[in-house]
Amino acid sequence: MDEIRKGLENVIALETKIAYIDGMQGILKYRGHDINDLVNLSYDAVSYLLLRGNLPDDKELEVYSDQLKKERAISEDVLNVLTFCNFNIEAMDALRTAISYISHCDPDMDDNSSEANIRKGMRMIASFPTIVAAFYRIKSGQVPLEPDLNMSQGAYFLYMIRGTEATETEAEIIEKDFILSAEHELNPSTFATRLATSTLSDVYSAVIAGLCTLKGPLHGGARMEVMEMLDEVKSPERAGSYVADKIENHDRLMGFGHRVYKTYDPRGLIYKDLAREIADEKGNSIWFDIAESIEKAAFKEFVENKGKTIYPNVDFYSAVVYKYLEIPPRLATAVFAIGRISGWIAHCLEQYSDNRVIRPRAKFVEI
Ligand code: ACO
Repeated sequence: MDEIRKGLENVIALETKIAYIDGMQGILKYRGHDINDLVNLSYDAVSYLLLRGNLPDDKELEVYSDQLKKERAISEDVLNVLTFCNFNIEAMDALRTAISYISHCDPDMDDNSSEANIRKGMRMIASFPTIVAAFYRIKSGQVPLEPDLNMSQGAYFLYMIRGTEATETEAEIIEKDFILSAEHELNPSTFATRLATSTLSDVYSAVIAGLCTLKGPLHGGARMEVMEMLDEVKSPERAGSYVADKIENHDRLMGFGHRVYKTYDPRGLIYKDLAREIADEKGNSIWFDIAESIEKAAFKEFVENKGKTIYPNVDFYSAVVYKYLEIPPRLATAVFAIGRISGWIAHCLEQYSDNRVIRPRAKFVEI
């Protein structure tokens, strides 16, 4: 049997037209478009690109956005499901439960054609923000809001959480967050989604596999942990000792390191600018200053002292952005999923279009 690469490191499992990553140069493209350009578009345009393979023209975008907005509402039954969810669970678990329920009611459930899968995918893209916000409002003793059918995806999500309109900067920043989170090649949750798809399971089941996988703290769950770390560090002056303690205890510093990037994650650089921008708008630099001090301390420890290629990843400054947007930590991974759902659907479609069941081997070892 061939060499075992623990964690499937650097194993090329399949071909994709959806994402390109150069981990040494820090380049990320969705369908040939650099992330630094895509981040200036709307989330709807980027999700169209991921699902359909090309950027929409103005008319196509208008039609697509209208279709999505019509799918924002969730039924009374789904609100009841969310009400029954345990108070203390993460929004991610509630989202998974709600999607499982919604799948039973989808008229396209048994249709596995590409167009039906796009329709189901669009329903999830449109309703994820509604579900996450409704769960948050129910659990914080507030009434879930009727969906607004005009706002952009970012403005809509913040409105559905708060009940008041976000500022222009806040709405733009969360829209960019969804774009930056939308796709990342064969990350663990997308691989899980493709694995489920490869058995010819349905698109809802594949997305649930993705949700379950994104939740873990070594993947999307790191964003919540970074938010908690910022609270724990409390001031920029404490960052150095915090990082030194982590390293001495052989603990992971959350929001740092990446399997593919051996330089600064290009999304991390954009998030850092967004974090600075929102800190300026709020007139409060505390979370940004703490994060930057952690980053400096980590650079000294990891890069200068140990010669390792460990830099902030996508979850580090995104967590800072969430602090300023007052997104509670237990919502953080679900907010990540609101962006990532487009990428998962794109990968389901690609997998169905040229499928072979994914089935690696294990090497048996005697006890
Ligand atoms: N803190 C401390 N040490 C680290 C970190 C970290 N965050 N990341 C890597 N290392 C060290 C490891 O201890 C190991 O050191 P060693 O060679 O001396 O034993 C070395 O770097 C390689 O680490 P691996 O765990 O083998 O790297 P792998 O590619 O398997 O893991 C991962 C990547 C999971 C992202 C890792 O860097 C990590 O745990 N980071 C913290 C969690 C996190 O931020 N996850 C989000 C990733 S982005 C995303 O999924 C959306």
